Amino acid sequence: MTALKNDRFLRALLKQPVDVTPVWMMRQAGRYLPEYRASRANAGDFMSLCMNPEFACEVTLQPLDRYPQLDAAILFSDILTIPDAMGQGLYFETGEGPRFKKVVSTLADIEALPIPDPHKDLGYVMDAVSTIRRELNGRVPLIGFSGSPWTLATYMVEGGSSKDFRKTKAMLYDNPQAMHLLLDKLAQSVTSYLNAQIMAGAQAVQIFDTWGGNLSAAAYQEFSLAYMRKIVSGLIREHEGRKVPVIMFTKGGGLWLESIADAGADALGLDWTCDLGEARQRVGNRVALQGNMDPTVLYAKPEAIRTEVGRILASYGKGSGHVFNLGHGITPEVNPEHAGAFLRAVHELSAQYHE
Ligand code: CP3
Repeated sequence: MTALKNDRFLRALLKQPVDVTPVWMMRQAGRYLPEYRASRANAGDFMSLCMNPEFACEVTLQPLDRYPQLDAAILFSDILTIPDAMGQGLYFETGEGPRFKKVVSTLADIEALPIPDPHKDLGYVMDAVSTIRRELNGRVPLIGFSGSPWTLATYMVEGGSSKDFRKTKAMLYDNPQAMHLLLDKLAQSVTSYLNAQIMAGAQAVQIFDTWGGNLSAAAYQEFSLAYMRKIVSGLIREHEGRKVPVIMFTKGGGLWLESIADAGADALGLDWTCDLGEARQRVGNRVALQGNMDPTVLYAKPEAIRTEVGRILASYGKGSGHVFNLGHGITPEVNPEHAGAFLRAVHELSAQYHE
């Protein structure tokens, strides 16, 4: 394997010294980029991009070619590949987000769900990982990812996106045993899926718990965090002679940072509702932090973006252990020039915080 030319992302996740604060953006390959929209039109649709390793590689590299400041690449795929591999039939309705042909409603439905074999059932993802790793040729590290069991369960039970998670919450409170069985099957699936990504070449992994923050404090512990903890304890943590850091991102998890920090991950992703400096004090030395600029700041002018980047860097303060990111994914309406201004500001303004 080629040596990494830029490893500041991996170093910051392990709190090792860096020259400047590393940066990447959630959803950095996506519809705000005209080159992405062209590739998608070429492939036909979004799932065809994901399922063809050459297309997945092409769109993964697009933001890196446009923005030399990016310190990591993220596998182009989706969290809903797992429910699809469990037989739910994922499809995307234009402008309406993800949908499933089959919905999970009863204990019998859950008992019937298979645990996917990552090589047989999700081989296209592993092929994408190894293709991207080869094409990156050591430029920056490659991040693999999965959804958290709770977040995946919401899509599987609702049959798609939801505002209130009516069916999923009803199942949780009416039939907690059924929900636990579903989450347990998902935790097993996610563990082997992420381990297969690591073996195929992912150099760090992120668990997206996009909807964990929608739970009560007690339900979060029991129905989301417990399963992420189980996943992390089953992950390969060293590969190719290097640590493979794990990032846990619960959107809306700011109230529970202390317990998330104890769940075994190397780093926590933060949304923009918490102050980064306060979060650093609360988690102490246990984990690194990733985040947390409000993605809508990118609608403002480059000068305002730069001011906000400076404020967040000052809030974290001196030393390693911070990976700059947005607090959630970049949105399709963002001007690509503004994303560039954001990334440049992170490197330019952060040198003063490192020795
Ligand atoms: O970050 C990256 O660049 C890697 C690619 C990536 C995608 N989805 C591509 C995508 C990642 C990491 C995801 C994760 C994902 N997918 C999450 C968790 C992260 C988050 O944003 O909270 C969730 C909840 C999903 C499920 C999903 N996929 C939804 C709700 C949608 C539709 C919403 C939307 O933005 O249109 C998708 C589709 C999707 N996944 C797109 C992309 C680039 C847009 C599809 C298109 O091109 O039309």
